[in-house]
Amino acid sequence: MKRRTLAAALVAFASASLPAAAGGTDTLVKARQASMKEMAAAAKAIAEMFDGKRAYQPEAFKAAANTLSARTGPALIAQFPEGTLGPPSGAKPEIDQARADFEALAGHIGRLADALAAKAERAPAEITTDMLMGADLPMDGGSLLGKRPGAAQDDPAGMPPEHILHLVLQDCTSCHSRFRQKQQ
Ligand code: HEC
Repeated sequence: MKRRTLAAALVAFASASLPAAAGGTDTLVKARQASMKEMAAAAKAIAEMFDGKRAYQPEAFKAAANTLSARTGPALIAQFPEGTLGPPSGAKPEIDQARADFEALAGHIGRLADALAAKAERAPAEITTDMLMGADLPMDGGSLLGKRPGAAQDDPAGMPPEHILHLVLQDCTSCHSRFRQKQQ
């Protein structure tokens, strides 16, 4: 009788603790996926304002840029701890083997998003052409894709916000192509 009680208690303990542990990871995965979706919505909002597909509003630009800034960098890194990678999530287990690269990408997009948020903080009431892509291109026609030397051109603070957004989106794609897989 005593043994059975103990066994029952252990079963109860096991069944109480296992789903809790699984629930912890599940919650974390859901939270990071929701965070990624918010970043996607924010990036889309800014892109559409620059494209003229959506009304430009400095407050909406600021809010979206702040979302990108708050969800990249250290916050992004913290969302992918060991033990939460691989199926059923869309995060590749390789993140663990290439932590330095993953964190460098998260840090890089974080600095770009911070620069974008700083621009948004001072956003004018009406959109201006110097906010748009190409405003920083040389008059003789440089290529955005070409690697142009010069510290000023590598510093996002000196770029129009639309250009910074494009670099942000490149980092989304770089990370996904290497560290994201189909969810199961
Ligand atoms: C440093 C790596 C990294 C960067 C940078 C990154 N992502 Fe992700 N993203 C991931 C990983 C890994 C997943 C899979 C997460 C999971 O399923 O647990 C993901 C998933 C997603 C998803 C799917 C979420 C879902 O509902 O399953 C969207 C949408 C997304 N990212 C958008 C973005 C956008 C937009 C950006 C850029 C603004 C971005 N990501 C930047 C790594 C990154």
